[in-house]
Amino acid sequence: MKMKDNSATFVILGGTGDLAKKKLIPSIYALFRDGALDEFDVVSTSREEMSDEDYVSIVENNVEKTEGWEEFCQHLHFVRLNFYEDGDYSHLKKVLGNCERRKLFYLATLPQHFQTITHNLASHDLVTDYDKVIYEKPFGDDLGSARELNDTIRKVFPEERIYRIDHYLDKELVENITVLRFANSIVEPIWCSKYIDHVQIIASEDFGVEGRGEYYDKYGAIRDFFQSHILQLLALTTMSRPGQFDAKCIRDEKVKALSKVKVLDAIRGQYEGYLQEDHVARDSSTETLAAVKLGLDGRRWDGVPIFTLFGKNLADKYAQVYVQFKRTEQRFSGGRINHSPNSLVVSIQPDQGIYFTLNTKVPGEMRTTESEMNFCYTCHHGPNTPRAYENLLIQAVRGHQRSFVRSDEIEQQWRIVEEIEDQEPFKYEKGQIADQVRDFIGERRWHDL
Ligand SMILES: NC(=O)c1ccc[n+]([C@@H]2O[C@H](COP(=O)([O-])OP(=O)(O)OC[C@H]3O[C@@H](n4cnc5c(N)ncnc54)[C@H](OP(=O)(O)O)[C@@H]3O)[C@@H](O)[C@H]2O)c1
Repeated sequence: MKMKDNSATFVILGGTGDLAKKKLIPSIYALFRDGALDEFDVVSTSREEMSDEDYVSIVENNVEKTEGWEEFCQHLHFVRLNFYEDGDYSHLKKVLGNCERRKLFYLATLPQHFQTITHNLASHDLVTDYDKVIYEKPFGDDLGSARELNDTIRKVFPEERIYRIDHYLDKELVENITVLRFANSIVEPIWCSKYIDHVQIIASEDFGVEGRGEYYDKYGAIRDFFQSHILQLLALTTMSRPGQFDAKCIRDEKVKALSKVKVLDAIRGQYEGYLQEDHVARDSSTETLAAVKLGLDGRRWDGVPIFTLFGKNLADKYAQVYVQFKRTEQRFSGGRINHSPNSLVVSIQPDQGIYFTLNTKVPGEMRTTESEMNFCYTCHHGPNTPRAYENLLIQAVRGHQRSFVRSDEIEQQWRIVEEIEDQEPFKYEKGQIADQVRDFIGERRWHDL
């Protein structure tokens, strides 16, 4: 059977959840509107009983309806399915019938259901050779459960059919890290301990748990954010040149980089008021912020600390990778010489861009000032970049795995998390930088904090 490249039936297991309503349905609609899908249908499930029309009415509030909405809705279907009811999968199979299109089973639900769903999809022969299975994050709760889930999957589906989501990999500037490093002869040679003083990876959020207290309290900042996004950024920043820019080679290099990572230090914080959030245990010691100092074995990164900082209810919302180079040895005679270290920033959000700081001469004087060479992504390429999940969905439809996480990457990520010692979090005021955070980086300074 010949499959059309851009056709799919999306089966959203957990179709009434927050993720499906806010991200998946709007993204599939955007793909449809942009003409990226040749043929498609969406079959969403949950335990509730409802008609296709009822389903449309619960998802439409999150969609910016423009042209084609009515037509799009003709493709939205709802099927009642309890993950733990064998008969419900038989019913789903009947509904999908002899679907001639590639099916994308999207596990848009909490990870505790992943084992059961995997088992049931396999035992009911729902996943054919053309189909894909997409797992939301977090993939497991710890190294043991991630391994167990990988083992279950491995027994029933080949890795080529598995797509583990880390939506940070969908971000343009994250994809740009590889290009910046390996497509520029002025960057690659200086990307090593001889020239780099240290790296910072910062993801600061200016909001709290926002109604997701139950989920967040179970995971916390380290297992929710560090385990996935921060360690993927670290892998892309530190990996060696892949033989080819394809999924296999890039993922091979990321795994090699991750396997060299060791935890050197860590602190945890919890914002004031967290214990009063809905569905959070009143005596919870879950961290809402953490800073983790990492190092990599091997010559390339020898002695280069990598400071990561991520958390909720901080002053601003931004994510960036900051690379600070070593100061030059050069001394100028006479005049005041500033001599700031050079730095390179990959700004992931909200501003998208890459900028270098250089020392340049002040006119008429022999002293330096810091100047920025700025590449503003949106000024250059325009604001119409695809929304989160759009890219990931279309890549999965086309069978491109580059922006998805492989089983061995996930296991390395959990291995690193397990090196972080448990400790009681300190309290911090919303929007404030706690002394513990400032002091964590020693004589260095956090960038932009
Ligand atoms: N929300 C976000 O913005 C977001 C962002 C990034 C990642 N994620 C990840 O996406 C996943 C889903 O998150 P979410 O916030 O959408 O969760 P959610 O709002 O709790 O939705 C869970 C979905 O699973 C269904 N479900 C739960 N138990 C079921 C069962 N026994 N049988 C059948 N269906 C069941 C629910 O339907 P019923 O309860 O109605 O049956 C609902 O449709 C999580 O892994 C989360 O970490 C979410």
